[in-house]
Amino acid sequence: MKSQPTILVLDFGSQYTQLIARRIRETHVYSEIVDSAAPVEELLRHNPAGLILSGGPASVHETGCPSVDPRIFDLGIPILGICYGLQLMTHLLGGEVKRSGSREYGSASIHADATSPFFLGVPDSSPVWMSHADEVVRLAPGFQAIARSGRVPFSAVCDASRNLYGVQFHPEVVHSKHGKRMLRNFVRGICGCKGRWTPRAYIEQTVEAIRNRVGSDHVICGLSGGVDSAVAALLIHKAIGDQLTCIFVDNGLLRLNEADKLMEIFGRKLHMRIRKVDAVDHFMKHLEGVTEPERKRKVIGHEFITVFKQAAVSIPNARFLAQGTLYPDVIESSGIGKHAVVIKSHHNVGGLPKELGFELVEPLRLLFKDEVRAIGKELGMDDEMVWRQPFPGPGLAVRCLGEITPDRLEILRRMDAIVVEEIKAAGWYRRVWQSFAVLLPIRSVGVQGDSRSYDYTCVLRAVHSSDGMTADWVHLPHALLARISTRITNEVNGINRVAFDITSKPPSTIEWE
Ligand code: XMP
Repeated sequence: MKSQPTILVLDFGSQYTQLIARRIRETHVYSEIVDSAAPVEELLRHNPAGLILSGGPASVHETGCPSVDPRIFDLGIPILGICYGLQLMTHLLGGEVKRSGSREYGSASIHADATSPFFLGVPDSSPVWMSHADEVVRLAPGFQAIARSGRVPFSAVCDASRNLYGVQFHPEVVHSKHGKRMLRNFVRGICGCKGRWTPRAYIEQTVEAIRNRVGSDHVICGLSGGVDSAVAALLIHKAIGDQLTCIFVDNGLLRLNEADKLMEIFGRKLHMRIRKVDAVDHFMKHLEGVTEPERKRKVIGHEFITVFKQAAVSIPNARFLAQGTLYPDVIESSGIGKHAVVIKSHHNVGGLPKELGFELVEPLRLLFKDEVRAIGKELGMDDEMVWRQPFPGPGLAVRCLGEITPDRLEILRRMDAIVVEEIKAAGWYRRVWQSFAVLLPIRSVGVQGDSRSYDYTCVLRAVHSSDGMTADWVHLPHALLARISTRITNEVNGINRVAFDITSKPPSTIEWE
């Protein structure tokens, strides 16, 4: 995988850095994110066909602002600077960047030079997304403007003889209508990349790599019911067949019929070796009386390791443990875009492998979520699994506020099933990042039939997001909300009120705990 031509994104801390890499990969060219301070020797190890300098919150006038190894401009490799990347390139190559106190934020219209290879196929006038304070006021020697907007004379610039390009706007965000085309022009045209990054090629290469690595040994893979572990298992199964054993821990915190469905698909349909561990009572016992969210997460994480370990050591010849680690986890743990504060402990990141003493197989570690889905589809996985919304490792526990009991979980499971069913029937399931029910521990008075009720409240949550880091609540149609509310209060005993969560993230989080 490493030897193919790569577009390297040098990260300056932009909130869009990952999006840049994803957009490049959508043009079927492999892209990786690296620390902006990486020396040239390190960059060359990735076989770069082009470099992209990302945006970022800094100003080139700040002392200690992030920079690049200046030798990158002498490599003869095409470079595209985006926002801060453009400003830094201009600053380093002898132009001038004006410090500005105010931000230009939002949509702007640019007029582009259609003869530039960067704007091939892009209309003369097109909307782009701006988000910057500083701006270029004098170009570096050799550069010329190739696009301007009403206010900004240097919206896009280039030194075509050296293949250096820069844009003040963000071509990677959807609000830049032809941004994807511009990025494609850069990687496929200017950098000359061929477009060999496809699901099929990835599968072929990964299957071979797994076979070579594993040899005649055995691999264990934990299945969670989510798409990541499912695709990881399928890839490994394709590579080594029965040398793979999947372990599925039923912790009692899954959705309605989920455990049965999983066994049906992987065991009976795909003929994979799968060992189900019924740990429902074990988890219930350890969660008794636990209400504090972090404590819940810790207990579940800890008990998962205990149960998994027991199952794993009973499998003979197992030397490897498979994990569905994705590229965003890899980037974060490498320190790029690191978040300083732990808001919630996510128990599926870290912990498990070292404890167990297995070697790791991570067949998805180069992939973004949408690429995992594309590979699942290519491997013949059914749509229901491929398009499954993310589900947290601690399962329904973080949606069942207060104490977790079998009765309360059953209420939540029934509510959740209604939400999923109605959201799917209305065609919203794939349009949202997540949609689910939350069970509150407070009760309120209602009237059902002719009687007074004193029952729990269901909260409905539906969010749009591209990576779970930020999210907007979804304006679901009132008719759909009404249907869900009516069905839940009619069909689920113990619920007499349904509320709709209209907060985004931040300030809320997606899950309630
Ligand atoms: P929050 O609630 O932190 O969630 O806004 C962001 C995204 O992460 C999912 N999530 C988890 N996923 N293990 C997971 O695999 C966890 O412990 C966990 N907690 C939250 C959540 O569903 C949302 O998509």
